[in-house]
Amino acid sequence: MNKTVLAAIIVVIAMLGFTYVAVGMAGGMGGEGDWVNKLAVLGAVVLVIVTSFVVTKYVRQMQNDRAGGKLADENWDGIGEYKNELPFGWAVIFLGLVIWAVWYFLAGYPVNAYSQIGEYNEEVAAHDAKFEAEHANMDDETLKEMGGSIFIVQCAPCHGLQADGIDGKAANLNVRLEEKTVKHVINNGQGMLGFPAPMPDRNGLMNVNTNALITDAEIDAVAKYVAGGMKGTEGADVFAGTCAACHGADGKGMEMVAPSIAEFNPTLVADVLKHGKKGAIGAMPAFNNLTEAQVKALGAYVTDLSK
Ligand code: HEC
Ligand code: HEC
Repeated sequence: MNKTVLAAIIVVIAMLGFTYVAVGMAGGMGGEGDWVNKLAVLGAVVLVIVTSFVVTKYVRQMQNDRAGGKLADENWDGIGEYKNELPFGWAVIFLGLVIWAVWYFLAGYPVNAYSQIGEYNEEVAAHDAKFEAEHANMDDETLKEMGGSIFIVQCAPCHGLQADGIDGKAANLNVRLEEKTVKHVINNGQGMLGFPAPMPDRNGLMNVNTNALITDAEIDAVAKYVAGGMKGTEGADVFAGTCAACHGADGKGMEMVAPSIAEFNPTLVADVLKHGKKGAIGAMPAFNNLTEAQVKALGAYVTDLSK
């Protein structure tokens, strides 16, 4: 017997054996299994036999067939090419596929037809809208509560449950500003919160206060003054002379000019969330996946912390 056929028969027997071990034990081949199992086994048997038959046919064809047909006129270094007709079946399948593709895009599954991803996106959008509507008019207490629970999940990993910054890992949000942050900003300037003009660095600040260079001693004094909650007199003159022009006499900021450095407010928190923050302490990523209501809630929560 031909070796290929023999191999095919061995493969068929082996695969049927495996099928029996896998499915037969579940009752498929015995008397007890239900008809679905029997059908599955029958399908497996047919598949194995057909596959083996087809593979055997082609292996034997590769072993025995000789090329034939009419040689083309051209040849390359003696290597020629037979002129063979395009097999009829191929042509039929090719044309069929072209027709099927047109049908598929126009009627079967048009681009704007139903899809699971589309349904998912629509449901998410609807839920977001419902969430926003439900939380559009929250009172202050509810906002703070909601902010607190978002904070625990999204912010506490860096800022700590007490919002104290975990030993300098992130900003301590119980105070508006730490001394080193103020110094860092004066020395380097800052422009990340989305104001039309950035905060100038220490050299740039001369343009605001043309009377004097801002000296190291003045920076120390004004940093202490701002970080200390703008109390006392030390540094107050530097603040009034150099900082108040943009941050306001009370340090509470001016719209479109500079943020409040006296206290947190929801706008400032929203700016930080939108743009992220990088400075003396470290880097905070932007949080663009929060909904409007969530940003408002975090604003209320953080604003309340330092009060
Ligand atoms: C020319 C206007 C201007 C002047 C003068 C100015 N600032 Fe600013 N300051 C800004 C702006 C604008 C920002 C916001 C920068 C940003 O977008 O990140 C800012 C930000 C800051 C911040 C960072 C706030 C934060 O939480 O990110 C600190 C601290 C600060 N200023 C302190 C001072 C002090 C102290 C002085 C005086 C020595 C001063 N600024 C003078 C415009 C000014
Ligand atoms: C990956 C760590 C990380 C996460 C998460 C994080 N922060 Fe921050 N945050 C920081 C760091 C670091 C700073 C200080 C940046 C600097 O050096 O000025 C900061 C600064 C801030 C500031 C500005 C303080 C200032 O100086 O003006 C606010 C407000 C703030 N975070 C709020 C939040 C809120 C609200 C969340 C949760 C939605 C949050 N942060 C999540 C790391 C983080």
